[in-house]
Amino acid sequence: MTAGDEFPERLRAATSDAAVVTDPDMMAGYLTDWRHMFTGQAIAVLRPGSTQEVSALVRLCAEAGVAIVPQGGNTGLAGGATPQGDAPQVILSLARMNNIRSVDPVGLCIEAEAGAILQSVREAATAEDRLFPVSLAAEGSATIGGIIATNAGGVNVLRYGMTRDLVLGLEVVLADGTVIDALRPLRKDNAARYWKQLFIGSEGALGIVTAATLRLVPRPLHRSVALVSVPDVQTALSVFSHAQTVLGDALTAFELMEAAALERVETHFNLTLPVQSGAWYLLIEAGSTLSGLAETSEAMLEDVFEKGWATDGVVASSAGQADHLWALREHITEAEAKSGRSVKHDVSLPIAAFPAFLEAFGTRLPEVEAEATPNVFGHLGDGNLHVNVLLPKEADSTGVMRLVHDLVHAHGGSISAEHGLGQYRVAEWERLTARAEQVLLGRIKTALDPQGILNPGKGLSIKEHKAA
Ligand code: FAD
Ligand code: MLT
Ligand code: ZN
Repeated sequence: MTAGDEFPERLRAATSDAAVVTDPDMMAGYLTDWRHMFTGQAIAVLRPGSTQEVSALVRLCAEAGVAIVPQGGNTGLAGGATPQGDAPQVILSLARMNNIRSVDPVGLCIEAEAGAILQSVREAATAEDRLFPVSLAAEGSATIGGIIATNAGGVNVLRYGMTRDLVLGLEVVLADGTVIDALRPLRKDNAARYWKQLFIGSEGALGIVTAATLRLVPRPLHRSVALVSVPDVQTALSVFSHAQTVLGDALTAFELMEAAALERVETHFNLTLPVQSGAWYLLIEAGSTLSGLAETSEAMLEDVFEKGWATDGVVASSAGQADHLWALREHITEAEAKSGRSVKHDVSLPIAAFPAFLEAFGTRLPEVEAEATPNVFGHLGDGNLHVNVLLPKEADSTGVMRLVHDLVHAHGGSISAEHGLGQYRVAEWERLTARAEQVLLGRIKTALDPQGILNPGKGLSIKEHKAA
């Protein structure tokens, strides 16, 4: 990997010493992904302090034909922020660009730089009695640029949509260094021709997000959180349907977890499950600015018990208890990581298809890999489950992944609901996606990044030359 020994010096001369890191020890943490599945090589880690510096660095990389791997908090679960292959490349970390520029509680928006941590943005909104609804277990490290580039989902999609639905304006640096400033905080803007949406979910392959204007919503003043156990996923859907009928728009999160997933949390963390005797658990949250929520939620849960759907349950009686119930859910990914090797599947399906899908998965998994252990949980209410599988070290993961993805395909679903393709799912996406769709994406990629220098080998970059 080379672009000439003097290349980092040219980058420094155009920016500053702080913006160009070449010390191997300082670079190490940027070169491996959160799951420790992928480790790449880079000439340098670039840490620009402003949009102008990003632009200058991108221009120099484009001139030298050096590829750029954008990186935010490096919490991605698909290896999208880790260099892939031997081509000369740099990591471009947005971490230093972490200012929250403004919060407008009346216009319901917040402007932040790409490296701003999601949790800080949520806290800044809360300080103005507003809510930025994207919430996920990695929010203490994930960045605004990262959630936009992955079109992150999380636990509140059911009510507020994905990141895509919450981006009003964007500032983007294109592959040739051009800065597009479209941070306008407008709810209605047909003049922008929808191009902003192209960058959301493009995993750093079409441009570098340097700042964004995000939509805020009124902060629900009342909150109701319950954990209930149910015997099967079909029953979970009955509870979901009833919760929607009774709670309507107030229903914010509807998470499903299999019992073993929560048992792993209890094993690895100091957290205890306050509900017993279920094969599956549901974490249900509702929120409202209007009073009367507690009574409505309790009435809904009483119905659920009367109908014999729930076997046990608890309603949080304080904010602390609600946080405890959420902590059980939010530690599943880390408990899984501590349990050994796992194959992650980020599945979305028409929601009614989940019982049949999971039954087929349960029957066929042992045929493919006798030692496999499922770890199924996720955002049932928005049609997205993580159908993860724990495997012994020496087992072959390909058959397991193909089994799950073939079932997803057969049930009309997607193999990447919220995590992106990264480098982890590229081959499977190619295997299962119609050639015409791949060519279309290749054309978009070629139009915006003709040299193919933005995040090669990931997501949209996969077939940048397929259009040719
Ligand atoms: P990174 O990991 O640094 O990068 C992710 C991708 O975005 C890469 O392709 C990278 O090149 C690109 N990128 C980053 N910044 C920019 C930028 N400024 N411009 C252009 N491209 C950029 N995800 C969910 O959707 N829902 C969940 O519920 C969820 N839960 C998680 C729980 C845990 C414990 C962990 C570890 C991860 C979870 N994730 C979840 C995945 C991850 O947190 C999200 O994908 C998040 O959006 C990544 O943000 P990041 O800043 O860490 O991005
Ligand atoms: C989550 O919902 O916690 C993550 O997106 C899932 C995962 O770790 O697979
Ligand atoms: Zn998730």
